[in-house]
Amino acid sequence: MENRLLNAKATLPHYNRDALQARIVHLGFGAFHRAHQSVYADILAAEHGSDWGYCEVNLIGGEQQIADLKQQDNLYTVAEMSADAWTARVVGVAKRALHAQVDGLETVLAAMCEPQVAIVSLTITEKGYCHSPATGQLMTDHPLIVGDLQNPHQPKSAAGVIVEALARRKAAGLPPFTVMSCDNMPENGHVTRNVVCAYARAVNGELADWIEANVTFPSTMVDRIVPAVTADTLDKIEQLTGVRDPAGVACEPFRQWVIEDNFVAGRPEWEKAGAELVSDVIPFEEMKLRMLNGSHSFLAYLGYLAGYQHINECMEDDNYRRAAHALMLKEQAPTLKVKGVDLAHYADLLIARYSNTALRHRTWQIAMDGSQKLPQRMLDSVRWHRVHQRDFSLLALGIAGWMRYVGGVDEKGQAIEVCDPLLAVIQSAVNNSAQGEARVRALLGIDAIFGRELPKDATFVAQVQKAYQTLLEKGAKATVAQYAAAL
Ligand SMILES: NC(=O)c1ccc[n+]([C@@H]2O[C@H](COP(=O)([O-])OP(=O)(O)OC[C@H]3O[C@@H](n4cnc5c(N)ncnc54)[C@H](O)[C@@H]3O)[C@@H](O)[C@H]2O)c1
Repeated sequence: MENRLLNAKATLPHYNRDALQARIVHLGFGAFHRAHQSVYADILAAEHGSDWGYCEVNLIGGEQQIADLKQQDNLYTVAEMSADAWTARVVGVAKRALHAQVDGLETVLAAMCEPQVAIVSLTITEKGYCHSPATGQLMTDHPLIVGDLQNPHQPKSAAGVIVEALARRKAAGLPPFTVMSCDNMPENGHVTRNVVCAYARAVNGELADWIEANVTFPSTMVDRIVPAVTADTLDKIEQLTGVRDPAGVACEPFRQWVIEDNFVAGRPEWEKAGAELVSDVIPFEEMKLRMLNGSHSFLAYLGYLAGYQHINECMEDDNYRRAAHALMLKEQAPTLKVKGVDLAHYADLLIARYSNTALRHRTWQIAMDGSQKLPQRMLDSVRWHRVHQRDFSLLALGIAGWMRYVGGVDEKGQAIEVCDPLLAVIQSAVNNSAQGEARVRALLGIDAIFGRELPKDATFVAQVQKAYQTLLEKGAKATVAQYAAAL
């Protein structure tokens, strides 16, 4: 039976899909991977004869995405949307789709141990690394890690699964694979290395030595705004292509990928599809995390509190737009080491991307998991400003916005659905403190987020207290207007 998706009004995978090999096992078949790394591989297969295919895996959550993909011969649609044009492509590079809890962990591990596997890549969200966001180190008391260390041959965490697969490859005399994180974390390769090696060492010292000597963990900077898929997104894709695709995803036209060129078993020629292969990704990662993700979080908390559901609505408020732009250029750009990039142009481009009215990127989605995001998006920059004695009032306002948001009640008295892996710790700080100064002190006391030093810095604490108090007295919209007026 011919696949419905091959009749879609879209760019179709006319290349020989049978010639593809599952040389990359990807953990985290979420919206982002579908619209980013897979599109690069699809372009390489379509335009450059590449045989690099994917085995798509979800370990925790996302059962439906894997089921949907299997249902349609591993094909799915990616729609690029801007205010004036929508285009679609059917991506054909997935060879297999597996879910650890549906197909069984053994099937996943066997797929990772196939001889041709050269890369295991990840988009498992920041919390999937089971690390302390403040230090980048593995949390050995994390429930998933505690469980995996008791039962290392039946792991559940991403680190546990990677280490077990590497152990089996070593035992079978197979070469190792490269482990490549594509999650939004500073030095994502170093964090992944730390987490995998620390976990391996707790399992078996000799295995850890082998991994340290033979496996590489390149860092990457990934960029493409891919909002969570809604029924509305799927309707729009169907209108565009004529085919209903439950695995479809929509994203902005822009895409960027900077990759540290450090692979132990080969890699696709990603540069032919527009990626940049470099020796040091960190300056690019910092730029993106602080200017893009930092301003996104600022808009997410303060926008949500003001009743803006989507980022483009924030851009329609002149004060929010000016504040976000100033945050990028006055408080994030000076902290960066990146060379040869016109940061003023980059900031203008970001504002234009945020203003895309076709992109319904929810403030609530960006606001989630704040404990995992604040350190690299805002706190590292605050530390820079404290050392250099510079103004960081917009960063302080963003942090105060997070505090107001995790308080769990919006400005109209409605409950906020706060999602965060540290929710229990955050709620305990909120519930055991009075509103106002004490609340700020209690939240600053969460050292997995703020570390030990910043909360002792009187200037930092005073700035956050001032912003928080203004938010309480005036509300988010008027507070952002007040900060924007002072620019
Ligand atoms: N969406 C974007 O615009 C965007 C842009 C740049 C980078 N990213 C990165 O990609 C990540 C995923 O974003 P998304 O939009 O695909 O989200 P998503 O919710 O669509 O997918 C999340 C994926 O993570 C997996 N996952 C969640 N918790 C896990 C855990 N504890 N262990 C293992 N796997 C786990 C799920 O199975 C799923 O495949 C983000 O957290 C970010 O680091 C996203």
